[in-house]
Amino acid sequence: MTMVNERSEAGLYELATPDPADFDELAAAIHRAYGGFPDPPEVEAMNREIFEFDRAVVVRHGGRVCATATVYSLEMTVPGGPRPVAGVGYVSVMPDHRRRGLMRRMLRHQLETLHETGAEPVAALNSTEAGIYGRFGYGMASQVARLTIPRGARALLPDRPRDPALRVRATEPALITGLVAPCYDANVAGRPGMLRRDETWTRRALMDPPGARGGAAPLQALVAEDGAGTRGYALYTVLSHWEDSSPRNIVVVKEIYAVDDAAYAELWAVLLDLDLTATVTAEPRPVDDPVLAMLADFRRAVPTVRDQLHVRLVDVDRALASRAYARDVDLVLEVEDPLCPWNRGRWRLSGGPDGAECRATDGPADLAVSVRALGSAYLGGVSLRQLASAGAVTERRAGALGAAAAAFRHDPAPYCPTIF
Ligand SMILES: CC(C)(COP(=O)(O)OP(=O)(O)OC[C@H]1O[C@@H](n2cnc3c(N)ncnc32)[C@H](O)[C@@H]1OP(=O)(O)O)[C@@H](O)C(=O)NCCC(=O)NCCS
Repeated sequence: MTMVNERSEAGLYELATPDPADFDELAAAIHRAYGGFPDPPEVEAMNREIFEFDRAVVVRHGGRVCATATVYSLEMTVPGGPRPVAGVGYVSVMPDHRRRGLMRRMLRHQLETLHETGAEPVAALNSTEAGIYGRFGYGMASQVARLTIPRGARALLPDRPRDPALRVRATEPALITGLVAPCYDANVAGRPGMLRRDETWTRRALMDPPGARGGAAPLQALVAEDGAGTRGYALYTVLSHWEDSSPRNIVVVKEIYAVDDAAYAELWAVLLDLDLTATVTAEPRPVDDPVLAMLADFRRAVPTVRDQLHVRLVDVDRALASRAYARDVDLVLEVEDPLCPWNRGRWRLSGGPDGAECRATDGPADLAVSVRALGSAYLGGVSLRQLASAGAVTERRAGALGAAAAAFRHDPAPYCPTIF
């Protein structure tokens, strides 16, 4: 084990990087922190496989692990294309060590390390509770929808995209592993928040351990294809449900990706009309999922929206320079960042659809903005104008807010289907 920090003022807590021999102990600590539910062995093995020991920290007390946090080396699409992003995960503090500043210490250490090593300029995480990370400069940057769509042969509008050459075939997930990546990959570059999946992360997405099914049937697959090959796939399971002696099963859509709109619509059409079922649920879905525009009755889909990715600019200049903007922009931002002093001050952002640069400046500020608001706006899913109305952005030059809000937005909306 490599010591990476001195003991705390209390002399009790040691921050360290773990090594592979520590994994079982830190996994047990995480399970305890999350309520005591152990992962099925297959999931635990995958957690270990993707764990990056040299990027993790643990806190030990009396030699025992009592807090954990790690970073995954992700490639996430941002406006402008795929970029390296530090995916923060496994943040946990054991119940008997909480509210003593251990999470704060680990997250500050992560940000300082990313800054000092010139690693990823942006960090992102999925949060168990949406209220935790704002104080560390993370802003809610994307949302997801949960859909609950009543089954029906006419659930989709008749004028949805169609192609008579398309056929949908039912099969086993294990038989389509080679087809999944091309369909998924075709959806990555254009949508902020999507992650590149290598062979390991693809395998992770297709995992279906019996111990994690929660009573549902084994995972099933649909493939949309024509004479030339595969154009899309869906992974789903079915929850058994009967009412008044009648089958009212629930279809649970896990993944659905296609290379074109007709294949996407055809997969949904099949999912929405499976015998013995009454409802189709899908979560997480993008808030602008095309299927919402194909539904004959939007309201019956009961879309429910919640927060998803929370994004933190590690280095404001490198982060803002590594994305593109919907319109040309030339602005001086005065940034407030209580946790990362290197970000404080005025930054001139000049750029547009082909890229940008961002440098420290003495010039007068056009907008005053918290680092948290910049994190929220970074993927293009949250409007700077909305954030200004909430007090997180202040316009210092008339017209600057509208110009910045238009430049930062992105269509389609950000969406990250991968929990990390
Ligand atoms: C969430 C958790 C990691 C916090 O750890 P901790 O060491 O107790 O946190 P800290 O003492 O460093 O608290 C830092 C700040 O976060 C706040 N905070 C801590 N947990 C919070 C929560 N669940 N919701 C809102 N705020 C929280 C603290 O009040 C403190 O606020 P302050 O800076 O304004 O005083 C810990 O409670 C835990 O492991 N929970 C279960 C697992 C989990 O939800 N992990 C998060 C995964 S995304």
